[in-house]
Amino acid sequence: MKSIEEKIQDLKRERGAIVIAHNYQPDEVQAMADFTGDSLELSRKAAELDEEVIVFCGVHFMAETAAILSPEKTILLPDPFAGCPMADMITADQLRARKAEHPGAVVITYVNSSAAIKAESDLCCTSSNAIKIVASVPSDKEIIFVPDTHLGHYVQKELGREMIIWDGYCPTHSRIREVDVLREKADHPNALVMAHPECPLNIREIADGLLSTGQMCTFAKESDATEFIVATEMGLLYRLRNENPDKKFYAVSDRAVCPNMKKIDLEKVLWALEDMQHRIVVPEPTCSLARKSIEAMLELS
Ligand code: 13P
Ligand code: SF4
Repeated sequence: MKSIEEKIQDLKRERGAIVIAHNYQPDEVQAMADFTGDSLELSRKAAELDEEVIVFCGVHFMAETAAILSPEKTILLPDPFAGCPMADMITADQLRARKAEHPGAVVITYVNSSAAIKAESDLCCTSSNAIKIVASVPSDKEIIFVPDTHLGHYVQKELGREMIIWDGYCPTHSRIREVDVLREKADHPNALVMAHPECPLNIREIADGLLSTGQMCTFAKESDATEFIVATEMGLLYRLRNENPDKKFYAVSDRAVCPNMKKIDLEKVLWALEDMQHRIVVPEPTCSLARKSIEAMLELS
């Protein structure tokens, strides 16, 4: 009797498929994936892959981004209900209304958003390149930044550049409390605090580094420090601990779990390959319009 991992490997070969996974995926999904990464790394990977079938272990907007970049490929999301509440905090009508209030403003959209929002945007960004993307806009231009208020305010402060910022947020990162970080700091006085820019201001202010999940992996590897307090979704700890067996990583809160990321499991990956489901397709003209804003980001980063 074959294990579920062996069945997935067999079917991958048969279908000419590759499995890519976000850093917040459950441990066993990350262990089985061919590639893991942050949002920017996954977008880049999806754009350059030769495989015809990509099983995307992440949330809907990530699979949608892959489908936008490679409309000729089959992009499968193992659970079609793995969404992102932050992405749902703005609609295309709301963004059009905001644009009408600020004619000529450049719209910069965090990739944690729907294809319809990306299609209304000039540029996309991720947490790892947001500063670079915003800095690329001429200083005489107004900027509308959507949908994450925390990432927007972080960039605004770093660059000293006023923006019109939407008030969306990530419910998972909002569960990380200052008291949790302070407790971990008191317990581990030599540890550095790595926080995601999706965290609220009181967390960002006491962090040693504000980093995307991919940047946290690089930072932990390259730093001389040996202990780290991790203020982001708990799934990242699997990769950090695996890649740095001699270093210590402390989760800041066991409430920092994204229920949508955890909807994917090995059974659903197997079923995705068996049934070639659930295919993510973005209709035209949304697909081409959204592609322009993602490609503009990829060119700048
Ligand atoms: P990154 O992996 O790009 O840091 O994004 C975090 C996130 O919340 C994705 O949903
Ligand atoms: Fe969305 Fe937050 Fe989950 Fe990322 S961690 S997918 S931003 S809800």
